[in-house]
Amino acid sequence: MENNRENFGSKIGAILAAAGSAVGLGNVWRFPIETGQNGGAAFIIIYVICIVLLGLPIMMSEFLIGRYTHSNTAGAYRILSNGSPWKWVGRLGVFTGWFILCYYNVVGGWTLHYTYLSATNAFAGVPASEFGGMFTDFAGNPWIPTAWFVVFLGIVHFVITRGVQAGIEKFSKIMMPTLFIITIVLTVCSLCLPGASEGVEFLLKPDWGKVTSTTILQAMGQAFFSLSLGMGCLCTYASYFDKSTPLAKTAVNVSVIDTFIAIMAGFIIFPSVFNIGMNPNEVGAGASLTFISLPNVFQQAFGDGSVLSVVFSSMFYFLLFVAALTSAISLHEVATAYVTEEFHLERKKGACVITLSLLALGILCSLSFGPLKDITLQQLAAWLTFGKVDVTGVSAMNIFDMFDSFSGMVLLPLGGMFIAIFAGWVLDKQLYKDELSNSGEIKTPYFKLLIFSLRFIAPVAIGLVFLDQFGVFSFLK
Ligand code: PFF
Repeated sequence: MENNRENFGSKIGAILAAAGSAVGLGNVWRFPIETGQNGGAAFIIIYVICIVLLGLPIMMSEFLIGRYTHSNTAGAYRILSNGSPWKWVGRLGVFTGWFILCYYNVVGGWTLHYTYLSATNAFAGVPASEFGGMFTDFAGNPWIPTAWFVVFLGIVHFVITRGVQAGIEKFSKIMMPTLFIITIVLTVCSLCLPGASEGVEFLLKPDWGKVTSTTILQAMGQAFFSLSLGMGCLCTYASYFDKSTPLAKTAVNVSVIDTFIAIMAGFIIFPSVFNIGMNPNEVGAGASLTFISLPNVFQQAFGDGSVLSVVFSSMFYFLLFVAALTSAISLHEVATAYVTEEFHLERKKGACVITLSLLALGILCSLSFGPLKDITLQQLAAWLTFGKVDVTGVSAMNIFDMFDSFSGMVLLPLGGMFIAIFAGWVLDKQLYKDELSNSGEIKTPYFKLLIFSLRFIAPVAIGLVFLDQFGVFSFLK
């Protein structure tokens, strides 16, 4: 199937763009801490097994569906589903990407603010106990985080409107090597700190005693999020691959780059944590690790207010910004490709529609730590039931957390499970084999294992992750 869409101009451009999508906040603020707390190298081995058995088959399927149809995600599933309800899997993917972006862009804005604070030496002399307050004051401010969010979204919009080759590909070719170099420089600096070996040990020493069924589910969930699976992202990018792009090799390259950066992020973070004698189990994860613990850790490890700490922490937050930006671009492209192709809009107009919708919802997410902090799930439940039902058991999460939790816990696993079932059970096997082998040019000795995984391993595994999120297993215990 062919039409007049733009393609990536080179194979390396295609790999870097897909790797840009995969390498994101998840690599830095989730993977290292999960590894440290779940048995170090033991967790990494389980994670790699999850990538091989689950991640690669689904990534290859998403690539294949995109490249074969040369269409946006909703169009791709519509074309391949022959009028059956499977077409909804594509639409779900587009919705998920757009939904994730509503809060992801806000965090992108935070990374910009922290790059600015680091570069202007604003952390100098701040006592360790003040970093928490500094972050909550910033996030709760009605203007500053929203302004940074608008800047971040503006950059994403700019890249998207320039198109696939002149925008996404060109940008990935500049940003991914930059990200790679910064990662290496930061890793080397961190490993040179006194006491670094303890950090390396925390991260790598295999401790199989810490591995439980929950660890395995956590590794699966992380592999999934980190590789940008479960929605239309890689499918959309693959719709710009040309026919000679080797799908399996590209999937392996993307997974290796993603895992490498995630492990390196651990080498950046933990040597500094141990250097200042902090308990690694107390650094937190996600936003509290990144915006509360780490600014303090870097100040103390590299000398409070010193040039080295300014350079190190500016580079770290810039790295985070680049990682978030390339992932946000890939998410925006899913939605932009959808509206431009399905509603026959010009690319610039389509991108504007998406950006404006993200602006509106992103502002709500951004304000949900300040002026809108009282709008919680519990409050909404009370409003919707006209105060007639007891809602004390409902979580008091704010708007930002609602977007984060609903996409991570519900939309992504559901999307991933449907994609695996669709690729394993519905998609024509001959078509699958032809596409994967580039019409017989590439050998595919792993084909049977791949189909087995798509049919049985992946849906069951993702189903278990899904149930675990809602505490079904702890409930059973
Ligand atoms: N893979 C990105 C990360 O690790 O932060 C997040 C992400 C991007 C998830 C794109 C899903 C997606 F489609």
